[in-house]
Amino acid sequence: MTETSLDSFISGLPKAELHLHIEGSLEPELMFALAKRNALTLPYKSVEEIRAAYSFSRLQDFLDIYYAGASVLLTAEDFHDLGLAYFRRAAADGVRHAEIFFDPQTHTDRGVPFATVAKGLFSAMDAAQRTLNVSSKLILCFLRHLDEDAAFATLKMAEPYLDRIAGVGLDSSEVGHPPSKFARVFKRAREMGLKLVAHAGEEGPPDYVYEALDLLGVDRLDHGNRSLEDESLVKRLAATGMTLTVCPLSNLKLCVVHDMKDHPLKRMLALGLNATVNSDDPAYFGGYVNDNFRAVAAGVGLTREEISRLARNSFTGSFLNPDEQAVHLAALDAYSAA
Ligand code: ADE
Ligand code: ZN
Repeated sequence: MTETSLDSFISGLPKAELHLHIEGSLEPELMFALAKRNALTLPYKSVEEIRAAYSFSRLQDFLDIYYAGASVLLTAEDFHDLGLAYFRRAAADGVRHAEIFFDPQTHTDRGVPFATVAKGLFSAMDAAQRTLNVSSKLILCFLRHLDEDAAFATLKMAEPYLDRIAGVGLDSSEVGHPPSKFARVFKRAREMGLKLVAHAGEEGPPDYVYEALDLLGVDRLDHGNRSLEDESLVKRLAATGMTLTVCPLSNLKLCVVHDMKDHPLKRMLALGLNATVNSDDPAYFGGYVNDNFRAVAAGVGLTREEISRLARNSFTGSFLNPDEQAVHLAALDAYSAA
């Protein structure tokens, strides 16, 4: 396929990525390498066999495979290698700043200490800043299929590292695990000075988005697709300038949308929502952030102005301070004008 001028515009566009699960960036090649290094046997014979297993009809199909894949991550070096592989790939896509999720409970529940995970990710973030000029922030996600006491215990484990953790989030199986289940731990995180985000409205109903806003008090909304089913919710999200971290290829692979032509991103922008484009779990969903931009731009017919708007939203929706945002926005404006 030849690269269109829109594709090359996307390639060079300065952008931030705000919805990326670091465990979801574990490529099959690295999974095999880490299994070998840690003397583990995978239930797959080849990289091709792993990729062939990545066919999902819903979020839970993916989560089962994703948690199993993470079992090769044991040492701080493993987490460092995972993180740095992502940052290298992101830098190649024009990502200047990334706010990455990690799922500590996926690791602590199999005996990997919180400190090991933290040490490896922090060193990858430092290396990304030093060698790639990519800045980053870390967001600790609570697994919503577990109970709130487990989330409190995880927050306690994070206490020694809070100077390097920007916020908390909520991920994993959405339906049946509404935000209200985590209202107390989010309140505590807010009191500790952490930013708050939550996955809501990916598979769950608009009511879960209301709960994320009203009961958790989120600063940013992850996915939020199903908000579009509720007109007054859309008006509220637009009026308050809430950022939505939208993940087009994830939506397609998890059957949140059935065809990229039906993706709601263009409609979100037209409704005045501060949508952004992100890769979610790129190793599992077939693409990094520029693949997401290209797929959705081709599917729904985005203009250059809409693409620039999405990149602008990624910086203004980040947890960078206004001065830091201004530097990126100036670079974006210079790029878009050229
Ligand atoms: N964990 C990793 N990716 C996720 C997603 N898209 N939704 C919920 N939990 C996740
Ligand atoms: Zn996600």
